[in-house]
Amino acid sequence: MFCVMSSRFPYPLIAPSLLAADPLRLEEEIDAVVAAGADVLHIDVMDGHYVPNLTFGPHHVKAIKSVTRLPLDVHLMVSSPATVVPWFIDAGADWVSFHPETEAHPYRLLQYIQSRGIKAGAVLNPGSSWQIVETLLPVLDFVLLMSVNPGFGGQQFIPEVVSKIAPLLALKPSLMIEIDGGVNSKNAPGLIEKNAQILVAGSSIFGQKEGTTLESDRVEIYRAAINALRGN
Ligand code: DX5
Ligand code: ZN
Repeated sequence: MFCVMSSRFPYPLIAPSLLAADPLRLEEEIDAVVAAGADVLHIDVMDGHYVPNLTFGPHHVKAIKSVTRLPLDVHLMVSSPATVVPWFIDAGADWVSFHPETEAHPYRLLQYIQSRGIKAGAVLNPGSSWQIVETLLPVLDFVLLMSVNPGFGGQQFIPEVVSKIAPLLALKPSLMIEIDGGVNSKNAPGLIEKNAQILVAGSSIFGQKEGTTLESDRVEIYRAAINALRGN
């Protein structure tokens, strides 16, 4: 058991990435991961410009919000986050993060997100140094460390990103650290030991269900995957 207790959350939080869910059965997939103990739902927004893929829009977020009480963690991989941030907050996002190099005024956009009463995050690509977000720390609730190159699920975990956790927490102990990409039951315990508090997992949760049609079976499969990620 690698849980780190906090006054705000019982860490680690497990955030299934809906990118890896079956898009034709999205509500069933959400119900299954909620029943299996998921803490947060991670929604990858890709615009076909910043990354070579197209995924969810605000109407998806609004629809997802209508079927769950879990916090919605909207990860924006878009060229113009300032344009779309209000759309996603209006649609029901609870946490919003963007890649700071995509925004001319990232400090101002983070202030705006917080002013709307939700959690604000910055995303670091595997090749970006943690110092990029140093001056943003006063207006950050969390930093999302990408452990794959953004754009697709199912990629291999890049272990070097873990070294960014300690210097960020040294500067801001209340910061939440989210790890996204290639997270599985083998690398999760090491991430939690290094104080990662939110683990995003797409294929290592939803990829388990091949050939499973019964809802109750899927819940048990997802529960096992989520428990394995938590280290128990
Ligand atoms: C990649 C996305 C990730 C992705 C994770 O650009 O940001 O959230 O869905 O998927 P897995 O867990 O399969 O690497
Ligand atoms: Zn993501």
